Amino acid sequence: MELPPDMDQATVNAPELTSRIAVIGTGYVGLTTGACFASLGHDVLCADIDPVKVDMLKAGKIPIHEDGLEAIVQEAMEAGNLNFVLGSAHAVEGRDFVYLCVPTPQMPDGSADLSYIEAAAAEISPHLGRGTVVVNKSTVPVGSTRLVEQALGRTDCPVVSNPEFLREGSAVADFLNPDRVVIGADDQQAATRVASLFLGVRAPILVTDPASAETTKYASNAFLATKLSFVNAVAAVCEAVGADVNDVMLGMGYDKRIGHQFLRPGPGWGGSCFPKDTRALTRIAEDAGYDFSLLRGVIEVNDDQFGRVVDKIEAAAGGELAGAVIGAFGLTFKAGTDDLRESPALEVIKRLIDRGATVKAFDPAVSSHDMDGLEVVADAYAASEGADVITVLTEWDEFKWLDLDKIAELVNQKSIVDSRNILDRGAVRRRGFTYQGIGRN
Ligand code: UDX
Repeated sequence: MELPPDMDQATVNAPELTSRIAVIGTGYVGLTTGACFASLGHDVLCADIDPVKVDMLKAGKIPIHEDGLEAIVQEAMEAGNLNFVLGSAHAVEGRDFVYLCVPTPQMPDGSADLSYIEAAAAEISPHLGRGTVVVNKSTVPVGSTRLVEQALGRTDCPVVSNPEFLREGSAVADFLNPDRVVIGADDQQAATRVASLFLGVRAPILVTDPASAETTKYASNAFLATKLSFVNAVAAVCEAVGADVNDVMLGMGYDKRIGHQFLRPGPGWGGSCFPKDTRALTRIAEDAGYDFSLLRGVIEVNDDQFGRVVDKIEAAAGGELAGAVIGAFGLTFKAGTDDLRESPALEVIKRLIDRGATVKAFDPAVSSHDMDGLEVVADAYAASEGADVITVLTEWDEFKWLDLDKIAELVNQKSIVDSRNILDRGAVRRRGFTYQGIGRN
């Protein structure tokens, strides 16, 4: 098609409702949000306070391991609708929407630290145009929409809550193909404007008040964590009664009210969200006068699970960890990410080392980690060399395809504790290994 001289192909391809969005903070959530909005056709400017990170992003490189993210970042940058800038103040000028995606780390008492979000709101305030919608995507305690309103001090800029439900490792797919979009706002017009950003996305959009949107985020993560602690508790029962937890979960999952997802037993749950959000929700409830004992139990069961895995490894080492060499497969909190935050694998390793073991670990996404007693090695075979026990701690697919004959020659003792139930236990046992999974013999 012949284009008019003042119109290029990008203009022709652009959707009718392109918005100008600023994203403050380029962590997992901010970078995914910015890149995905850009890939939906919006004009996005992402800001961060870290100059090294901003330079890296400007060069089209991304600092995290996230499937598909680098490709959509580069594509959108080439198309000219995704850019990066240092500092948030000028990033927000002339923008229709500002997404706050700054961290809300956990404080010693379990509550969320809101200082970053307050600082970001105060910094952008003088630079916002009239009517700019400020959207809170950071996970924040119920009532934080109000707090952002106060920090902004701008009655002409509505604040809306739009919590994220992204999983690391599939964040791009989750953003572009979500189960739902939740928008919490008192101002219906602002809510409708935020909803319009998701026109290219096929998903139910729930518009509610800010407190309900904020609670939905915490309650969803707490429910998923509950599901996992339940699975791990049932796994303990299965071990005691001689049942197989994998079959039990399959049998349960066929019930549509339960579903098959999120029923894999493991060494406990971790990551940047579940531990922080479950503690925060118990705290939020407590502050509001409700003792969320169920959720406290969920957290306790998870802590016990780390200990149960350590006990299994100790038993597999002959009842004594002092002086034992453990070969650990996996360090990240789950497969598909390089994230070590609150990793169950690291927690188990730390406890093994506390009981006197040394650990040689391999993870496909991690090349080093500073912990006394832990050596990160180049592959699973190096981790197996001289090991008294091998333990699978993260469910990376490649651990399923290892050469077991080679491992059998490298180890000191043929003993495996598979905390993710991913190895072919028949194949392992045929090579003379003792095998222990979670919740099955
Ligand atoms: C989670 C939520 O899923 C997401 O919606 C929210 O926005 C952020 O927190 P994420 O932290 O990326 O996402 O990890 P997720 O895939 O949910 O796994 C959390 C933990 O549970 C990991 O340690 C994982 O290994 C464990 N897990 C998950 C299991 O042990 N078994 C399962 O069946 C699923």
